[in-house]
Amino acid sequence: MERNIVFLWICAFAIVHPVVHGHQETLPQPTASDQLPLLIKMNNDFAFHLYKRLVEMPEYQSKNIFFSPFSVSMVLSELSLGAGGETKQQLLSGIGHNSSVFSTEEMHQMFHSLLEEMDQRTGVDIDVGTALYVGDKFKALPEFLEKMKEFYHSEGFTVDFSVKETLDKMNMYVKEKTHGKIKQAVDDLESDTLMFLLTYIYFKGKWDMPFNPSTTREVIFHVDAETTVPVQMMHQYESLEVYYDAELTSKVLCLDYNDSYSMFLAVPDIKRRDKTIKDLEMAISRQHIEKWRRAVQKRKVDIYVPKLSLKTSYSLNDILKGMGMADMFTDKANFTGISEERIFISKALHKATLDINEEGTTAAAVTTVSFRPMSYSPLKTLRFDRPFMIFITDKKNDNILFFGKVVNPVEKQ
Ligand SMILES: *[C@@H]1O[C@H](CO)[C@@H](O)[C@H](O)[C@H]1NC(C)=O
Ligand SMILES: *[C@@H]1O[C@H](CO)[C@@H](O)[C@H](O)[C@H]1NC(C)=O
Ligand SMILES: *[C@@H]1O[C@H](CO)[C@@H](O)[C@H](O)[C@H]1NC(C)=O
Repeated sequence: MERNIVFLWICAFAIVHPVVHGHQETLPQPTASDQLPLLIKMNNDFAFHLYKRLVEMPEYQSKNIFFSPFSVSMVLSELSLGAGGETKQQLLSGIGHNSSVFSTEEMHQMFHSLLEEMDQRTGVDIDVGTALYVGDKFKALPEFLEKMKEFYHSEGFTVDFSVKETLDKMNMYVKEKTHGKIKQAVDDLESDTLMFLLTYIYFKGKWDMPFNPSTTREVIFHVDAETTVPVQMMHQYESLEVYYDAELTSKVLCLDYNDSYSMFLAVPDIKRRDKTIKDLEMAISRQHIEKWRRAVQKRKVDIYVPKLSLKTSYSLNDILKGMGMADMFTDKANFTGISEERIFISKALHKATLDINEEGTTAAAVTTVSFRPMSYSPLKTLRFDRPFMIFITDKKNDNILFFGKVVNPVEKQ
């Protein structure tokens, strides 16, 4: 068969470090669609399915994991706009769409409302978007391009995939959208590429309670029973939101960003030696994240969180195939909603980066006078000095923007 290729490229970047804030204006809150929680439930369930698939792949075993489930759900939903027949059914059931809960039309509408809503946030830098590069010899259906623009704010470009300038142009675009964070997003393009779909998510947040860099120390991180690595460990002793999840035998810390996002960190309780990160990651689900949001309580705690700089890159082809979305990668693909030409997806990539640090400059580092409680409590100290899980979520609706597991903070990708 002819090699008619659609590249799917999903990039997700999370940069978690200080931003300088000007005066904050309060924008009027948009009236969020009542159904939005249903979409978020669907996306978050998908996040856990995808995670479990990822950690089952031999090449990702015992590796750091970091990805944006939201951006993967979004791109699959976008593809379903242009898919037909069995391919469409696979995409919809793959992302967990249930037509008795909401229609596909409603799903696209809700993605649209969610994107609009995220656009309104002012306390963090968040940028979510889609770009569609269409080869000049490829005839994409105008309805598809219009819907992509209407629902997903997609930017469209007509390009010549046979020249190198196109690759440079795409890389420049991603570089700009990720504020210089990713300079070389796409390494090469196959000359028979017809269309390239790219979604990105960029997040940069400043801790509500920054860490004081002068208290960061090199300590040992326990990768597993045999392996340790030295890491730069940040520390604070503050009134912070914590929770002991007895069901998961794990300690949970919630660190807020300025404004409406926060990061959950969860580590198995070291006192229960039989509990490992494997137990945690296999038992955890969307419901736990929802429970944590309600259950965390403020208390004065010692926390130790490693500085991090992760880069991940995933080929999603096999993972999505394993989740029941196989046809789109083969000659069975039905994208009659995108073009009259027969096309299939040759590659689906996902890249993500995560950086966590104290706060950078001197700025808001709060000086605290430490009074340590004498009484024992399992939540007196939360040490993330062994494998733990992280989630960057939206406090307003529990949308999981980023999902990950840190096994070795200094692992070279
Ligand atoms: C592809 O999908 C369209 C729209 O759903 C459908 O009419 C067509 O029969 C499908 N083609 C194949 C080969 O399944
Ligand atoms: C779809 O949703 C309905 C209503 O909530 C539920 O009864 C049904 O089991 C769901 N179907 C699937 C496949 O999850
Ligand atoms: C965000 O940070 C700015 C400046 O640091 C501060 O004035 C503002 O109150 C913060 N907003 C929230 C919601 O914490």
